[in-house]
Amino acid sequence: MGFSVSALVVATCKPGIPHGCLGYVVAHSVRSHIGCYSVSWLYHCFCLAMHNASVNYDKTQSVSQAVNTRRSLRAFLPKSVETKVITRLLEQAARAPSGTNMQPWKSYVVRAKTRQVLCDAVCAAFDDPAQKPVSEMRYYPEHWFEPYVSRRREVGWSLYGLLGIKKGDHARTHAQHRRNFQFFDAPVGMIFTIDRDLATGSWLDYGMYLQNIMLLAREQGLHTCPQAAWADYHNAVRGVLPITPQEIIVCGMSLGYADPDAIENSLVTTRVPVEQQVIFLE
Ligand SMILES: Cc1cc2nc3c(=O)[nH]c(=O)nc-3n(C[C@H](O)[C@H](O)[C@H](O)COP(=O)(O)O)c2cc1C
Repeated sequence: MGFSVSALVVATCKPGIPHGCLGYVVAHSVRSHIGCYSVSWLYHCFCLAMHNASVNYDKTQSVSQAVNTRRSLRAFLPKSVETKVITRLLEQAARAPSGTNMQPWKSYVVRAKTRQVLCDAVCAAFDDPAQKPVSEMRYYPEHWFEPYVSRRREVGWSLYGLLGIKKGDHARTHAQHRRNFQFFDAPVGMIFTIDRDLATGSWLDYGMYLQNIMLLAREQGLHTCPQAAWADYHNAVRGVLPITPQEIIVCGMSLGYADPDAIENSLVTTRVPVEQQVIFLE
């Protein structure tokens, strides 16, 4: 197995016990900015690193491996993905269950010239202050509240911290968000749509299809990043792709081979401990 070590860790506790342990970490993400980050941020890095210090770029052999090695990666190599691999992946992903087998998914796969035209159009819309993001699907709450707002901030600042983007640095924040609309350099971009008259249940089914794509990608040694950001610029997307008025953009997704040297790919997001999300009743 090939590993790209995301952090150099000098630890005094066992891996897999991310909380309540002492240690020192020199994340390779922060080696060059070591003076700029607080001890608590380093500790946070340490917890992440201890939780899962390695990124797996290999093909996975089991469902557990696919689940455990899937990450939203945000930097890809220019290496192309064979058409037959993408076709097989989407064919298999469609084995996802759906209420009364409605199969509510529809995917647009963009590569080469069309991908570039799409990225250029949406980047131009994103750069234009007159074009505000408008999504037809409501992914996030209108008013953020706990515990969700803290979790959201944590992932945002972990990513931006790795990239050395400080709060208030609007230019770099804009540039990083803009990378969504370049599919993070992945050679394959996907835009997913759903019929606007379908109900919440079909959106649930859709998530299973999307997860299948992400897990099956791991089996091919590929990585992904699901991207709701594309839905915010559905008008610009519609200018390039033949999406009918009856369709709503659900999200986009980057697909390709991960860049093992990209610092943003060392991000390992946390999860709430199982005891806090599951209630066993007997
Ligand atoms: C439907 C969906 C939409 C998402 N949209 C974006 C996006 O637009 N841009 C992005 O960088 N990440 C996006 N993400 C990735 C999440 O930030 C990520 O899943 C979360 O932080 C957990 O990290 P992990 O996927 O690495 O486990 C999205 C995830 C999902 C499931």
